[in-house]
Amino acid sequence: MNQSNNRRSFLKKTTAMLGAFSANSIFNELHAAEWDNLEKTYHGRDAVEMASNEDYWAVIQQGYSASTAPIVMLNNGGVSPSPIVVQQAVERFNQMTNLGPSYFMWQILDQGRENLRESLAKLGGCSPEEIAINRNATEALVTVIYGLDLQRGDEVIGSHQDYPNMMQAWKQREMREGIVYKQLDFEFPIEDDEQIVRAYQNAISPKTKIIHVTHVVNWTGQIMPVQKIARMAHQKGIEVIVDGAHSYGLLEFNIPDLEGDYFGTSLHKYLSAPIGSGMLWVKKEKISKVWPLICAGDPKSGDIRKFENLGTRSFPIEQGIGEAINFHNAIGTKRKEERVRYLKDYWATKALEIPKLKLHTSLKKEYSCALACISIDGLSPSEIYSQLIKLGKIQTSPIALGKLNVVRISPHVYTKISDLDKLVECLSKISKG
Ligand SMILES: Cc1ncc(COP(=O)(O)O)c(C=O)c1O
Repeated sequence: MNQSNNRRSFLKKTTAMLGAFSANSIFNELHAAEWDNLEKTYHGRDAVEMASNEDYWAVIQQGYSASTAPIVMLNNGGVSPSPIVVQQAVERFNQMTNLGPSYFMWQILDQGRENLRESLAKLGGCSPEEIAINRNATEALVTVIYGLDLQRGDEVIGSHQDYPNMMQAWKQREMREGIVYKQLDFEFPIEDDEQIVRAYQNAISPKTKIIHVTHVVNWTGQIMPVQKIARMAHQKGIEVIVDGAHSYGLLEFNIPDLEGDYFGTSLHKYLSAPIGSGMLWVKKEKISKVWPLICAGDPKSGDIRKFENLGTRSFPIEQGIGEAINFHNAIGTKRKEERVRYLKDYWATKALEIPKLKLHTSLKKEYSCALACISIDGLSPSEIYSQLIKLGKIQTSPIALGKLNVVRISPHVYTKISDLDKLVECLSKISKG
């Protein structure tokens, strides 16, 4: 073959292997046949029943290199590893990009963006015209926090249990523009939706314009009654921003059904997309009034794509999201949600029997899923954290936030039961001193 034929066939091949949603996806190469068989065996089985089926989950675990790592990763709430197919996709796209970035990145890889938008929207139960792809939940939510017009004296209600980046963004607006940022203080767990809704309601004044709520509170794993808060807020003409960093790709829900106006999430947590990927959802009729965080030809446009003008960034990471969706969809959201909840319940109910150990998360299904946290009387979070590393190479997340002094534990679909047994054994040893 001469050089130009060579080049043509190479271009044909690279274009064909593109696209997580094509028949040539890496997921199809690696898993489709085996997983199809798996699906035939378990099709139609109830998600709760499947949650404890170790034969099924053993196959899923093999899809992650993290399942054989020399450490036990129980801080998936911080950031989650990607399955092998996602890692391979990013590597493949990166190699392709570096053959000629401006061509392969902008003319080839970027062709996948609209397909990706559609798949993310399908997973979120919303329109693709409401989805912007970006780099993380911070970028998604700060786009809205900085992008809304507010006047001096206008009030925003959030809580001390929201994520620090978002609190800081609101405080910066307070400093620069004189808006008023009020923060509620919750003591979780709370197993009463009305108590939570009432707390927001009681803080409302005629000046309140926005409620900022975290769907799954990262500190304790509390699931917040977002829809009830949003209904109450809308009756008073107040908009609602939802921080969904820990919910999208884990809990089964449609974003519009939360009834918020704005929703931002990371994709590198429970969706297991490449690290450095995020998503913003804006209700269609609200898009035009949100100023883009960076810039856009027409900043008042009603086209959601105005939020994607991020400058040069990693297209391999962005397109790698597609394989994470393939992997996720092959499991199914409900099945994943129930498995991860089962894993949390598994270690937490055993841990509750350990003397001096306290659980700071509700085990009621509607109030928690993956995340839960514990304390041990007489020990600081960093002491428990260090002991877990020393005794079992177990990675968790120590938290000291006001009165909350805990260690957060967050498994994922690749977590093995034996690792959770090890966790409980180590916690027991630590408690004995
Ligand atoms: C509730 C919550 N919101 C936002 C974020 C920020 O996510 P990212 O690092 O993807 O910007 C986090 C990160 O842990 C979080 O827990």
